[in-house]
Parts: sequence; structure tokens; C-alpha cells
Amino acid sequence: EKGTYPHFMLKEIDEQPFVMRNIINQYQNENGDLKLDDDIRAAMKDADRVYIIACGTSYHAGLVGKQLIENIANIPVESHIASEFVYNMPLLSEKPLFIFISQSGETADSRAVLVEVKKLGHKALTITNVPGSTLSREADYTLNLYAGPEIAVASTKAYTAQIAVLAILAVDSAHAKGIELDFNPLQELAIVANAMEVLCDQKEEMEKIAREFLAVTRNCFFIGRAADYYVCLEAALKLKEISYIQAEGFAGGELKHGTIALIEEGTPVIALATQEHVNLSIRGNVKEVAARGAYTCVISMDGLQEEDDRIVLPKIHPFLTPLVSVLPMQLISYYAALHRDCDVDKPRNLAKSVTVE
Ligand code: F6R
Repeated sequence: EKGTYPHFMLKEIDEQPFVMRNIINQYQNENGDLKLDDDIRAAMKDADRVYIIACGTSYHAGLVGKQLIENIANIPVESHIASEFVYNMPLLSEKPLFIFISQSGETADSRAVLVEVKKLGHKALTITNVPGSTLSREADYTLNLYAGPEIAVASTKAYTAQIAVLAILAVDSAHAKGIELDFNPLQELAIVANAMEVLCDQKEEMEKIAREFLAVTRNCFFIGRAADYYVCLEAALKLKEISYIQAEGFAGGELKHGTIALIEEGTPVIALATQEHVNLSIRGNVKEVAARGAYTCVISMDGLQEEDDRIVLPKIHPFLTPLVSVLPMQLISYYAALHRDCDVDKPRNLAKSVTVE
């Protein structure tokens, strides 16, 4: 039920701090340590390479997951779009482990890959919000997202839950491999939950940004580097699907290789700057587009901010920035759709779970 909320999407965006806390509780034992299935831990430890398979928003979470598992657990990871992988399978490693990420657990494109993978005799783990769903039943192992039902067609809380669970999986796998870490995901996720709450209280500013930048435009660019780039892909998808504005998520450095030709007077460019090691470069990209007439809006992080930044995110662990930086993007898309009189919870041409290939 929506309760006092005008739309499920807004309710589900607001639920994200609770979802983070729920995940912390569900994946913690009585000593406050991580608690994951021994079989999953063994499967991750055995794997020489992980293949993440998903679609849409879940694929975008998988891109962040690749970074997390590689950086934390030192296992090579490839993230793939299910509908491509099934017809264009790359050479597999000797001991692959497949991870399917699916909110619904019913996505036909992902299931088609799972069927192939099982034929080849490989192990599969499904990360889903619906244990007992097709992808969960047909895989060897399941990790639950504990996000609660997601009703709005545009996925929000499932995306952040997927990234949180992937971080927990990465750390558990690192422990299994005897890797020393000074990163406690349960503590860091508690900090994330608080940061999310701070942002949920800034809806007026997000609405203002949507009004200023997106009320009449026909297109919009989201630019970022490293983890911010992955969030930009998700931001563009969110804006496209509910507001019908043509949007592109772009790696900051790639614009000048062609796409910058599209920038004209008044083109909105929303930039994410939460990554210290690329902060100077993304700032440079913002200047490049501003010099060509773009209206720029920078969302940065505490410690990296500059004077004209529109939103400064609370500081959180660099591994987990997407959990927090996506939130203003979700809210900006929501308000853009609202201002343009779109049906926020049920965008045209889309279904909540895509059960055809
Ligand atoms: C976008 C969205 C879709 C889904 C995609 C995969 O907001 O919801 O892109 O992420 O259809 O769905 P699941 O995760 O159920 O496999």
C-alpha cells in the first residue's frame, strides 16, 4: 500500500534506509559478524572467474558488483547483459561461477542464460528479491535482497539492495580467501543508511533541479567516471523510462570522442563527482561542456565539493558511493516525470517483470 505517498516510486525511494538496515540485520550473526551460506562461500572461493548476468537496472547493479568483487575479493568478474550473453557467449574460464541478479527472479532473458549455464554443468547463484522465483529455484544458491515488494515499474530500492548484498558477498568471499580487510560492510552500510536519510530530506532541492534542468528539455546527459559512470547509466535509464526524456549516461572522458557534438546552448548535463582519483578529470569535463553552452549541475561528495555544486553527498566509504549517489538521481527523475505529467508508477510500454525474451 502507498499510504500517504502519491506514488509507489517515491515510497520505495524513501524506504532505502530501512532496506539497508534490514540487510544489515539479515546478514549478521549474534556476534555481529557476517553470516552467509557456507555453500555460497565455498562456491565463491572455488571460482576462478565470476560472470554476472542481468538486465536493465539489475545489470547496472552488476557493474558496481564487478568493481566490488574485484577490489575486495580479488576475483576477476565480467558483467554481461543477459540477452547478449545468451547468443554471444564469451570464452569461459575453467571454473566459472555465474551470478544472476534479478529483482523479480522471473526475467526471461536472464533465465535463458541460466538454462544454458546449467546445460554446461556450471554453478549459479541468484540474487533476488523473490526467493522461490524461477531464477531462484533453478539456480544452485540464492541470496535474498530483503527489500520488500517493489511495485513501481522503475526499480529503485532493489538496485541499492543488490549493491549492498554484492558488497556483503564480496567481503565474505575475501574472508574465505584469507584476505585481510579494513572494511566492515555492516558498519559502512549503517553509515550509508544515515546518508540516504539525509538525502531523502532534501526533496525540495531535487525537485528544484528537476524543474530548472528538465521541465522542457528533450534530452539530458549524465556524466561521471569510474563508479560514478555506472551510476550515470542507471540515472539515464531511470529518467528515460519514467519521463520519456532522451538521456544518456556517459563516461566523462568519452564525450569528446564524438558525443560532445550534441551539446548546445541549454543542454542539461548532470555530473557526478564522488571519486577522489578522478575528481580533477570530471571537473575538466564539466568545464568542457559548460564552455559549449551546457547547463551543468554537479553532484559531489563531502570533501570533494566546489562552490557551485548543487548537491553535496555525505561522505561514505569509496566502495559504496553508488548507494548514495543514485538517490538524488532517482528523485530528480521522479520529479521530472511529475512535472511532465507522466504516469510515474506505470510508464508506457513497460511491464514490471519481463517474462518474454
Ligand atoms: C528499470 C527496471 C528494469 C529491470 C529489468 C530487470 O527500472 O526495472 O530495467 O531492472 O527489467 O528486471 P529484474 O531485476 O526483475 O530481472
